[in-house]
Amino acid sequence: MVTGSSSGIGRAVCELLLKADYKVLGIARDHSKFTPNDTNYFPFEVDLKNQNETTNVAKALLKAHPEANILISNAGEGRFNPIENFSTSQIKDFLDLNLISHILLSQIFVRHLKARSGGNIIFLGSEAGLTGKRKATLYSTAKFGLRGFSQALSDEVRASNIRVSLINPGLVRTPFFNGLGFRPGDEKTHAIEAEDVAEVIMTVLSSRSQTILDEINMSPAKNVIKFDS
Ligand SMILES: NC(=O)c1ccc[n+]([C@@H]2O[C@H](COP(=O)([O-])OP(=O)(O)OC[C@H]3O[C@@H](n4cnc5c(N)ncnc54)[C@H](OP(=O)(O)O)[C@@H]3O)[C@@H](O)[C@H]2O)c1
Repeated sequence: MVTGSSSGIGRAVCELLLKADYKVLGIARDHSKFTPNDTNYFPFEVDLKNQNETTNVAKALLKAHPEANILISNAGEGRFNPIENFSTSQIKDFLDLNLISHILLSQIFVRHLKARSGGNIIFLGSEAGLTGKRKATLYSTAKFGLRGFSQALSDEVRASNIRVSLINPGLVRTPFFNGLGFRPGDEKTHAIEAEDVAEVIMTVLSSRSQTILDEINMSPAKNVIKFDS
């Protein structure tokens, strides 16, 4: 199961998984952006900010696909503003997607994987989960939280053959930046490509099953941000 399968990193991961003959359950709100011509791809429309919808669909999908043994918990969005500019409901909505949905989905997956012979859970963190910067209070809150969750969960479930990994990229060239007012610079050195992150995820999945790649940090060769005029 890949969340955020319709765009950016999630889409690139789906493409590599399909190429490697995995069956992929894709989760997003708008699947019109990614329509692979592959009978192994199953798109499901879910708004991960909605907790009932998220848990009900995830449980139903695991019941229908009991062989599912990988969760790539990737979906997320950016909101970068001074903290005083956020309303209470914007704060709640943001954390519902960027932190709570990861926790709920992995809880459902852990129950499922413990009843099987184990599996993999991979979270998309961020460099913002390593260092806090201005205007990223909410984003860093979610990503620091996700990092703590990932570390503790890994310790909790590794004895059940469940491998938990966290990938922390810097700037990745994806539609994530649409509407944010800034993006990576134009040069190749200014951003990681979504495919680079997808390759790392495939490496995590294919590593020897007794080894756990706990956390991987990635950054572009040059950190250059371009502001929209
Ligand atoms: N791009 C970067 O520089 C960067 C750096 C570090 C970490 N990350 C992290 O990488 C992950 C993927 O980001 P990306 O760069 O690939 O961004 P993206 O291209 O904007 O993709 C985000 C994905 O999340 C899905 N999504 C967003 N809100 C959703 C919701 N409420 N319910 C269900 N799905 C939802 C989107 O699908 P729909 O819109 O169709 O619902 C889309 O498939 C995020 O967790 C992000 O924080 C990104």
